[in-house]
Order: sequence, then structure tokens, then C-alpha cells
Amino acid sequence: MRIDMANERERVIEDGPGHVNDRGLPMPEADSIIDSIPAMVAFMTPSGELEQVNRQILDYIGIPLDELKNWQASDTLHPDDLPSVSAAWMHSVSTGTPYDIEHRIRRADGVYRWFHVRGLPVRNSEGTITRWCVLQVDIDERRRDKVLIAKALAEVSSSEERLRGIIDAVPGFVWSASPEGSVGFVNRRWCDYTGMSLEEACGDGWVASIHPDDAPGLGGYWQALLHSGNAGEYETRLKRFDGIYRWFLIRAVPQRDEAGRIVRWYGENTDIEDRKQAEAFLAKARSELTHLARVASLGAVTASIAHEVNQPLAGIITNASTCLRMLGADPPNVDGALETARRTIRDGNRAADVINRLRALFSKKSITIENVDLNDAAREVIAMLLGELQRNGVVLHPRFAEALPPVRGDRVQLQQVILNLIMNAVEAMSSITGRARELIVSTGQEQDRSVYLAVKDSGTGVDPQDMERIFNAFYTTKSSGMGVGLSISRSIIEHHDGQLRASAHDGPGATFAFSIPNADNREACDRVMENH
Ligand SMILES: Nc1ncnc2c1ncn2[C@@H]1O[C@H](COP(=O)(O)OP(=O)(O)OP(=O)(O)O)[C@@H](O)[C@H]1O
Ligand SMILES: [Mg+2]
Repeated sequence: MRIDMANERERVIEDGPGHVNDRGLPMPEADSIIDSIPAMVAFMTPSGELEQVNRQILDYIGIPLDELKNWQASDTLHPDDLPSVSAAWMHSVSTGTPYDIEHRIRRADGVYRWFHVRGLPVRNSEGTITRWCVLQVDIDERRRDKVLIAKALAEVSSSEERLRGIIDAVPGFVWSASPEGSVGFVNRRWCDYTGMSLEEACGDGWVASIHPDDAPGLGGYWQALLHSGNAGEYETRLKRFDGIYRWFLIRAVPQRDEAGRIVRWYGENTDIEDRKQAEAFLAKARSELTHLARVASLGAVTASIAHEVNQPLAGIITNASTCLRMLGADPPNVDGALETARRTIRDGNRAADVINRLRALFSKKSITIENVDLNDAAREVIAMLLGELQRNGVVLHPRFAEALPPVRGDRVQLQQVILNLIMNAVEAMSSITGRARELIVSTGQEQDRSVYLAVKDSGTGVDPQDMERIFNAFYTTKSSGMGVGLSISRSIIEHHDGQLRASAHDGPGATFAFSIPNADNREACDRVMENH
């Protein structure tokens, strides 16, 4: 909206060409000069009344000067800004100091825009203020940008603070490092735990918190990660501020830019001390249980072995005395003596064999993974238990599959499982009267080509509801039992990537069977290796 400026001009022209302003310029010329200033200019009286404005102001505000003069009562200025504008004016007018303020002025269409308004006093030769020259510069865009930037900055810093708050609150330790591996940040929890400051941890200062035994390994691993650019994890002991070491799992992940270059490494350390202790406890418990299981079976086995060794020993004694008798006869029966001496040696070897087997079964500590023929393994166990079977009136029916593929595993451990299963079967039949005590040990291949061994008895059987419970450690129904045989057996079979199960069958008794992937299955074999 344009204001007709004619009246304004006329007023000035009326003052006549003789009227000269303070700078000695005739007023009409002054008018055209101020109109041509590409900014909004106003003149105020020494007391602060609006005296004159240029065309830019009239065009912008869209109301005539007369109305404008009453600016303090109108809403030309944003009502919120009015108090500060009035106060600033009063101050400048009373002290003669320059006026400088930012406030909003209403545009002709009603929109308020921000202006930077500066007023300087114009003085005459005596130094008296004759008027104020006021310049109004539209800073709306700039101010909006400034506000936006300030808001954005406030948001960024508050979200950064939030992020830092979160990082400090996470229950683990968080850190970051440069692409070259120099640590630049650790969170507060890390500092609280180690007792080191952020400054101390930076660079490679953090290494001081690593257990001396772990430091070289971790250092090598970290270098390898930096080199490969892969994410990775490492278990290590970290020193607490009080000198105590706890186990941590350190994870490091690289962050990459669009071009795939690593821009930063981020890491997190989780306290795994409890897990480590539980693992150590379990390992100890397991080895103790295994030991107990061996010792528990020992009683039964010694009886059997005593029987087995006694047989050849009796043979040796008989043969030796026969030999003596034959040699002492007249004439000496040399051929007979030779034969009996040979038998003596044979029986001696047999006893030695039994003792060697016993030693293998009970003294072997280390685990050896090899191809195991389950038929052979079972035959050896049965050979050792023949005496026990006989003593208990058990009739054994071996049903070994021909051309059974070998399995990968630890022979002694697998034999221990077979021994446990047979001993349980014998014990389950010990109270049986009125039917045959029959034991069937069979082997074969499942459909998936894994190899199984099953021990079937005609004993008391297992209550269906106890089918799983019997595998729990220390579950036993026997007065002299420890209840660890099946639990150890199952853990051994599972370490071989196999399964051990009990099942009921037609007629009295129970069947216990395990199956293991056969040796052709390389994958399974690798897993067994790893597990050990
Ligand atoms: N063949 C079976 N027939 C019936 N019950 C069985 C048979 N095998 C195991 N059980 C039941 O499972 C329980 C647990 O067996 P497990 O071998 O774990 O321990 P245990 O034989 O009692 O003692 P040990 O530690 O000396 O082996 C046995 O007490 C018995 O009740
Ligand atoms: Mg048992």
C-alpha cells in the first residue's frame, strides 16, 4: 500500500526554499535524499516525538505520518516490545546517548518483522540536540536464522547432554577410539570403575587398567582388529580402582562413512565376572562329578574285574602245579609240561589285559578324539562286566550291527557311558524274580546315518513321569547310588553332539539309547573338537 506523499512534501515545501536544515541543506533536497536511502529513516524531535519519516517507512507501515506520530498508542510496534522501546527512548532522550534496540514493526499487511533500530542525536554548533536521526534495518530473516540456529544449538547441546547422560547411565563401559586405535572417550562408569580420569584413559593410557597377563594378548588382538577393520570381542581382566581385577568382555565395532572408511571405533565392555566364576565352578563341579561317577562305578567294576582276574589266576595256579607234577613224574611228561606252561603264559597275558583295560578306564585323564567303533568299545566294556553279569544271573544278547561306521569321540568317555547304562540295567533287574533277566546291547544306524547304541533290560522299568528326572544329577532311587551316572552320561553324549534318551518298551523293563553323528560328518566332528 502506497501513501500519498504529496501532503508531506507540501508541508516541507511550505516551509519554503529559505528554510535550511541543520546541515545547511534545503529541506526539499533533504527529503529526496532521505527518500533515496535504501533503508527506513525517521527523524525525531529532541524530546522524542516522531517528526519525519522517509518513503520506505510509509510504504512499509502503510499509514500516514500523522497517524504514525502516535506510535506509542498504536500497535505499529509489537505490543510485547513497546515497554522496552519506550524505556530505551526515554533513556536516550534524557541522556543524549545513542539509541540502539531490536524490535518488531508491523508491516502494512499486518505482519510484524524484526528491525534493528539505531538512533543518533543530531547536534547544532552549540552541541544541543536538534533532532534524532533513526535508522531502521530489517533484520527479520537474519534474526529468524539466529533464533533457529540458537534453537538448534540448544537442541543439539541438550541432545548431546541427553546422549552423554545415557552413555553414562548404561550399565557397561562405553568408549570410542580413532581409526588408528587411539582412545578419545571413555564414559563415566569406566572412570568410576578404574579410578582413572578421562584424560588418563585417552590415547593408550587405558592399557594400565588391563591385567598384565592379558595386556599382550589384547594388544595383539586390538592391532589385528584395527588392521582388518572387523568388529571383534575379547575377554580380559580389568583392574578396579581398589586393585581388584574382574573379567570383562570387550566388544569393538567400527563406524564407517559412505565410502566405507572407518571414521571411529566404538566399544563397550561388559562385566562377565559372575559368568566366569559360574563357568569355573561348573567346570570344577563337572570334573568332580565325572570323577565321582568313575569312582562310583569302580565298586561294581572291581567285583567284575576281580572275577575276571581270578579266573586266569586260578588257571595259572592250576596249570603251574600241573606243569610241576608233569615235570616231576617219572619219566617227566615234557610235552604235557610245555603245554601247561604255555597255558600259564596265556592266562597271565589275559590277566595283564584285564588290568591294562582297567588302568585305561580309570586312570586316563586327557581326552582324545579319535575314530571309535562303538561295537568294539561295547565289547570291551562287556568283557569287563561278564563276571558281574554272571553273578547277577543276567543273560546278555549282543546285537551288534555289521559294518557300523565309526564315530568321532573319546573312547574312554563313550565306554564310561556304556558301562553306566549296563550297570543301571543290571541294577534294575537285580530285584526281578519270576522272569528272565535279559540284557540286549544293540548297535545300528539311524535314518540320518548317526550311530546308536541301545541297552535294553527287563528290569523294573522307569515311571513315565520320571523319564526326564532320572537324568538330573543326584537323582537316585538306590540306597547306595549317587544319582550321577545318567547325568554324566548325558553330558558326555551331548559333548559328542549326540543324544541320550530313555524309553519304555513293550513288556517290562526300559531301554536307554544314545546316538552320535558318524565320523563322515565333518561338521559334527569339528564341533566335538571345539567343545574340548
Ligand atoms: N535301566 C533302568 N531301569 C530302571 N530305572 C533306571 C534305569 N537306569 C536308571 N534308572 C533310574 O534312574 C536313576 C538315576 O540313575 P543314575 O545312573 O543317574 O544314578 P544311580 O544309578 O542311582 O547312581 P550312580 O550314580 O551310582 O549311577 C536310578 O536311581 C534309577 O532310579
Ligand atoms: Mg547308575
